Amino acid sequence: MKVAVTGSSGLIGTALTASLRADGHQVVRLVRRPPRGADEVRWDPRAADAGDPVLSGVDACVHLAGAGVGDHRWTRGYKAEIRASRVLATRALATALAAAQPAPKALISASAIGWYGDTGGGEVTEDAPAGKGFLSRVVFDWEAAADPARQADIRVAHLRSGLVLGKSGGVLARLARPARFGVLPRFGDGSQVMSWISLTDEIRAIRFLLESDDAGRSGAYNLTAPNPVTDSELTAALHHAFRRPDFGWLRVPAPVLRLALGEMSSELLTSARVLPGRLLAAGFEFRYPAVGAALAAELTTQAA
Ligand SMILES: NC(=O)c1ccc[n+]([C@@H]2O[C@H](COP(=O)([O-])OP(=O)(O)OC[C@H]3O[C@@H](n4cnc5c(N)ncnc54)[C@H](OP(=O)(O)O)[C@@H]3O)[C@@H](O)[C@H]2O)c1
Repeated sequence: MKVAVTGSSGLIGTALTASLRADGHQVVRLVRRPPRGADEVRWDPRAADAGDPVLSGVDACVHLAGAGVGDHRWTRGYKAEIRASRVLATRALATALAAAQPAPKALISASAIGWYGDTGGGEVTEDAPAGKGFLSRVVFDWEAAADPARQADIRVAHLRSGLVLGKSGGVLARLARPARFGVLPRFGDGSQVMSWISLTDEIRAIRFLLESDDAGRSGAYNLTAPNPVTDSELTAALHHAFRRPDFGWLRVPAPVLRLALGEMSSELLTSARVLPGRLLAAGFEFRYPAVGAALAAELTTQAA
């Protein structure tokens, strides 16, 4: 199949592109810079038209682009960038996909468990309402921005991903640096629930949704392993993966974290036990349902 991918240079996009190509699929990378090869096409995430006729003839589009949520302090300007790079870009892309002749069959669009906000560690599945706070509002509008594609009868699935654990980027790359030396601290009291997924299963789940002919495989899907962990358990598992002792007393109190990171600290302190209800109901099998095996695999191998 011919698949257009935005954000293909990122943690998930790089692994997805490699995985699709390894299985003989054709990938068209939508890039923001001048194209460097025949498989790349330039797109402007803020333009009303994201690039037809490029999109005509693609079977599906995986939309992963967005300014990194953990890359900068959340100043007013950067919050506007986080939001616009998702909401405006998704609307532009969905509009272009709807106009393409013939229109692609599916839009698989990144989203996040930020939808649920802080549930105090309470369990949630896909039918839970959106939470409050900046990220919840961004995610709500991000998913709604795909409406033009939905209205054109394109199957739209939203990937509500948890913390994606892959060694070359995202949260694992950041946590691995101190963990390698046995000095990764707990954040706050360490009891907040972190919902995570291995990069391997993230890619497998995206492909599970992408390659389906089932029109019902649309709407929101939680891409989270069935066994969320607390921050404390994740820290212990990381130290174990690096064969380091785990000093439970090493902590950064929540107020210090808020002072150092500002509003972005919510990324580390938010507590939500997000379960992959719809993936499990659809028969998806996780290769790494437990965090220890996931870390061991992701820290040593490339995603499959
Ligand atoms: N990694 C996670 O733990 C996680 C968890 C939940 C949700 N997600 C979501 O899944 C998507 C992919 O995640 P990822 O970890 O692969 O992200 P990533 O590594 O930060 O890559 C995102 C890609 O988006 C493009 N991009 C960067 N800044 C942009 C901007 N200002 N405007 C438009 N595009 C921009 C870049 O690709 P180009 O330079 O090729 O355009 C970049 O490589 C993101 O939307 C992210 O929010 C990720």
